[in-house]
Amino acid sequence: MAKMLRIGVQASGGGTNLQAIIDRCQDGSLAAEIAVVITNNPGAGALDRARKSGIKTLCINHRDFSQREDFDNAVVNALQERKVDLVVLAGFMRIITQTFIDAFPERIINIHPALLPAFPGLHVQQQAIDYGARFSGCTVHFIDGGVDTGPIIMQAVVPILPDDTADTLAARILEQEHQAYPRAIQLIAEGRLRVDGRLVIIEPASPPEVTAMLNPSTEG
Ligand code: GAR
Repeated sequence: MAKMLRIGVQASGGGTNLQAIIDRCQDGSLAAEIAVVITNNPGAGALDRARKSGIKTLCINHRDFSQREDFDNAVVNALQERKVDLVVLAGFMRIITQTFIDAFPERIINIHPALLPAFPGLHVQQQAIDYGARFSGCTVHFIDGGVDTGPIIMQAVVPILPDDTADTLAARILEQEHQAYPRAIQLIAEGRLRVDGRLVIIEPASPPEVTAMLNPSTEG
């Protein structure tokens, strides 16, 4: 059997993306094993989800460190000890330092609940609504030195509806996150991604599922 991709997942919150990854590992559609789930938040729901599936967990609380680099060094050591191939940020709400990036070059990915480069940062569902955007979605990308700026692997698009709140939009986006993130990780497991500057090249190429969408529709 081919070697499984060993992933380390970092999560700060409820962990529904973690759950989607666990589920896809369990049903065999994702050729990866989760070596460890690391959280900075002792109350993270992600911890329960991991434990229920018998996955090792580690809480490294950023509050125990006075310097960002020291916190990141502790996380890097934990990931290296477990021989992690890929670091998967799944609702991880801390900024990653260069120390961390240097330890895992082109091997840290993130999911963001907007169509980057629009709406980086926080509270992005409300920002997309307030801006009057007709579509939003999610972006899976490699981490680079900036905030939500790294090369884009995959995006999924959802419409923004007239009566949307940040919560209803977040839920619609989250459904797509759960599809996209395991699929993006699977591309990495298959060795199909290459980063060329800002571009992520997928070989063999995968065509998009849709060619165009209109919101609002001009029909009816
Ligand atoms: C997800 O929507 C993810 O895209 C977002 O946090 C949520 C975590 O949900 N991440 C960020 O905003 C990163 N800046 P989850 O804990 O249920 O996976």
